[in-house]
Amino acid sequence: MSTAIINISSLVTNDPSLGEGPLGLIQDAAVVVDGDRVAWVGETSKAPATDNAVDAGGRAVVPGFVDSHSHLVFAGDRTAEFNARMSGRSYSAGGIRTTVAATRAATDAELEANLTRYLGEALRQGTTTFETKSGYGLTTHDEARALRIAAAHTDEVTYLGAHVVAPEFADDPEGYVALVTGEMLEACAPHARWVDVFCERGAFDGDQARAVLEAGMRHGLIPRVHANQLGHGPGVQLAVEVGAASADHCTHLSDADVDALANGDTVATLLPGAEFSTRAQWPDARRLLDAGVTVALSTDCNPGSSFTSSMPFCVALAVRDMGMTPDEALWAATAGGAAALRRTDIGRLTPGARADLALLDAPSHVHLAYRPGVPLVSAVWRRGVREV
Ligand code: NIG
Ligand code: FE
Repeated sequence: MSTAIINISSLVTNDPSLGEGPLGLIQDAAVVVDGDRVAWVGETSKAPATDNAVDAGGRAVVPGFVDSHSHLVFAGDRTAEFNARMSGRSYSAGGIRTTVAATRAATDAELEANLTRYLGEALRQGTTTFETKSGYGLTTHDEARALRIAAAHTDEVTYLGAHVVAPEFADDPEGYVALVTGEMLEACAPHARWVDVFCERGAFDGDQARAVLEAGMRHGLIPRVHANQLGHGPGVQLAVEVGAASADHCTHLSDADVDALANGDTVATLLPGAEFSTRAQWPDARRLLDAGVTVALSTDCNPGSSFTSSMPFCVALAVRDMGMTPDEALWAATAGGAAALRRTDIGRLTPGARADLALLDAPSHVHLAYRPGVPLVSAVWRRGVREV
């Protein structure tokens, strides 16, 4: 059954061959959806006959957001830590252990209910694809169950046993790396597509991170890295060297880090919610874009450093504080996220792509940054089905 969404004021296709500029913008547009795919895009006046029509009433349509970095399998709450930070304390990797204790104590049903709740939030804000990670279990049993629960909701599941050293291994970090690269990996690899490591002071150093990524790759997982969030370090260059799909955070970068990203195939995924919620220095998106790096935007939704599920909020922050234009930010939140997940079927509205799209209560995507904090997403289709 085919449906045409007609009278779209401004349609972002993310295909420059279909419309104007890098976003491939089409004015007075229509999208034809057939089953779970986009069948046609163009001007409303030229749209083919369909079984149904939905009138967008002169509002904008964008590809569904691709949130390529989140940590949604967790229990508990870190309001007190946030409050302390907003009273002047600084953020450190160690807070993760608070969530680990709560997550271990939760039942599968509690973890799944929590995950479903945040996914609902994200969907209502236009997110149609999300990646999510383990990393709050830190035992073989708890990491594997986190991945199993996540895999019931998304194909983009990431093994992050190397989030921090588990409390039981506080005096034996190498023992923990052996577990993460051995028995825990064996149990987790079947449920995941990606392997990730938090390469940072207070978490894992460059050698440990390399060991984690290489072990994951030997088990068929594709690497991505939490890199250079809290300070300078080896994470970004390691990510490029191992051919990671994405280096995430990229807040503290040397010229050599920027060069490595510009000359490699690794996407730089920027997570402005984390800098917002930790009152940290903003990543310099302008510097990366001017160097020719592919940039993605994502929420990093997690209870510690970035408790937002809102891609529109991240777009607004990236435009206001990270030097991105509204067009660049929209691209990064859709096609950029797809690139960070090595996907070509999402993050674009072109014939054959997945019919994932958001209707905005606004004449163009620029309003996502121009009207920050306003719930502009008024309808969402995922795989051709209207969900919101
Ligand atoms: O991406 N950086 C490491 N992991 C998360 C933080 C997790 C937490 O504080 O619970 C992040 O910011
Ligand atoms: Fe993260």
